[in-house]
Amino acid sequence: METIIKKITHTEEDKKIYEQAGKILREGGLVAFPTETVYGLGADALDEEASAKIYAAKGRPSDNPLIIHIADRKSLDEIASEVSKKAEKLMDAFWPGPMTLIFRKKENVPMSTTGGLETVAVRMPSHPVARELIRQSGVYIAAPSANTSGRPSPTKAEHVIEDLSGKIDMIIADDTVDIGVESTIIDLSEEVPAILRPGYITKEMFEEVIGRVTIDPAITDGVKAGVVPRAPGMKYKHYAPDADLKIVEGDMAKVVDYINDNTKKLINEGFKVAIMTTDETRHFYTDGIVISMGHKSDELSVARHLYAILREFDNEHVDYVFSESFETENVGRAVMNRLIKAAGHTIIHV
Ligand code: TXA
Ligand code: MG
Repeated sequence: METIIKKITHTEEDKKIYEQAGKILREGGLVAFPTETVYGLGADALDEEASAKIYAAKGRPSDNPLIIHIADRKSLDEIASEVSKKAEKLMDAFWPGPMTLIFRKKENVPMSTTGGLETVAVRMPSHPVARELIRQSGVYIAAPSANTSGRPSPTKAEHVIEDLSGKIDMIIADDTVDIGVESTIIDLSEEVPAILRPGYITKEMFEEVIGRVTIDPAITDGVKAGVVPRAPGMKYKHYAPDADLKIVEGDMAKVVDYINDNTKKLINEGFKVAIMTTDETRHFYTDGIVISMGHKSDELSVARHLYAILREFDNEHVDYVFSESFETENVGRAVMNRLIKAAGHTIIHV
């Protein structure tokens, strides 16, 4: 299949892009588009066959459900059967934006969209291209991140092209993805709401609006054997770079010593080694490919670069990666969550 690639130009021409993409979606095709978090791979959420195509294009396990993207509040009533008071409050506070809520689904939402679950994940994105595409197409768009399953989520059109060119109908390119990590997922089905995936909107931000919120233990401890995770995506190894990635944590001087010593040793053995650091600490490192993630004091700058850097390591065939820990407040926690998954939970304490 030839993939149509169209760039948003902020001229009259954009209208044609939305018309073409809308037609493809209405006819059951696949269109990748930017959102404020990462690029999504969209299909008509209520078309059983269309959303099934998403799994094939991504190589995604069929029990890992999709998020439905809507452009206005009334669309929610078409797909969700119960909307609680707490959900209303959260939507007022954080929609449009990087928050996904879990609801009981209505009959019209096919099982191919929800991965066989009776619940449905819904998000109203704030990105203008995503919003315009939903409005113009007239469909609700089921969209996971637009990467091959197991690779880092795409934050640039080139990442989508790398993974999905030839497998989907169209890519709308507009490199204005802002946050760089996926939306926060919150499940309101229990007495105390639970965060199923950390993101830009934090526990503290939720608690200001609806009171106590917990973080699902699978996020902090990983999915334990024999436990069915509340978000099916939790059990899959995500964002795994080809390189052996280790996070090194502890007193800064010791972290630097550990990384410098091991980098030297591995380079002597003939391996390609990279170091993930920050603007503030990069000058401590003497060998290897030293990559700054952004400012330590600005966790959003780190979030924005994370996935592109992990992809770059694959392209450069890096063998080993040592990363400093970015454990900070706010979106920094989402960054660490993704990094810990990418490292397969290997953290070295020094
Ligand atoms: O920011 C985002 O959320 C991006 C953009 C494109 O909107 N989308 C995204 O989708 O990250 P995806 O498919 O990569 O991640 C969806 C996650 C998975 O972990 C899945 O298991 C969970 O949402 N999920 C979807 N439906 C669910 C449900 N009914 N109950 C629990 N978890 C659900
Ligand atoms: Mg994903």
